[in-house]
Amino acid sequence: MNRRQGWPATLQEGPIALRPLRLRDAPVLRDTRARNAEWLRPWEPTYPEMPLRTTGLTPYVAMLQAIRREARQGLSMPWSITYEGRFVGQLTVGAIVWGSARSAQVGYWVDSAYAGRGITPTAVALAVDHSFFTVGLHRIEANIRPENRASRRVVTKLGFRDEGVRRRQLHIDGAWRDHICYGLTAEEVPGVCCAAGTTGRLPVRPRRGFRPWFGIGARGPERWR
Ligand SMILES: CC(C)(COP(=O)(O)OP(=O)(O)OC[C@H]1O[C@@H](n2cnc3c(N)ncnc32)[C@H](O)[C@@H]1OP(=O)(O)O)[C@@H](O)C(=O)NCCC(=O)NCCS
Repeated sequence: MNRRQGWPATLQEGPIALRPLRLRDAPVLRDTRARNAEWLRPWEPTYPEMPLRTTGLTPYVAMLQAIRREARQGLSMPWSITYEGRFVGQLTVGAIVWGSARSAQVGYWVDSAYAGRGITPTAVALAVDHSFFTVGLHRIEANIRPENRASRRVVTKLGFRDEGVRRRQLHIDGAWRDHICYGLTAEEVPGVCCAAGTTGRLPVRPRRGFRPWFGIGARGPERWR
């Protein structure tokens, strides 16, 4: 299999889209993250070279160059989340391992002004669908601090399994933090469709309670800008 199959790709469902991060996203990324510094601080892994309140563009440009490089190597898929065309957050399917693992980790955040609208579950559903059925990954996990109820809700709405606690897994907000590992494999996906639609608040709902949650279409590969 071509490791870069399915990248870059723009995925869309209603007003919510995943669009490959571009170098010209640096200013909006910096401004949104700075405005949301306190919102993100308890959950964001520590990056000494890029504090949340950094005002300069240089670290953002450097970060975007690095993640674009990784994406070209087939090791990650870094997207911006947009809502009605506006940048509202980030979602990355990263730490991709090929060979007999075909696994990855998903990470995400949204601007606090857009929280609670079901944007992230839809974005994660789009990314998982694309990763399993276009890219060819087999397993995706999300590692979440036990205290992060909002993020745990996102993955449980989508049928990810709680696989237990990883002790002191990441350095966040000044200390090594435990994380709960949530996992999902490709063959489990059909079984989660109904569960994902039960909140009745998500923008993508099952048709008559049974529209596949995963299976949302991609616009297909596009040129890297
Ligand atoms: C976790 C996060 C991505 C969820 O995104 P979202 O688009 O708001 O997801 P949802 O709309 O499904 O809401 C998830 C939960 O957030 C909570 N929530 C709802 N509205 C909220 C608001 N205005 N503010 C804060 N939390 C809210 C609710 O518990 C909701 O669960 P429910 O749908 O069962 O009521 C978002 O809260 C965020 O970016 N947090 C900061 C960064 C972060 O935690 N990233 C993940 C690290 S693992």
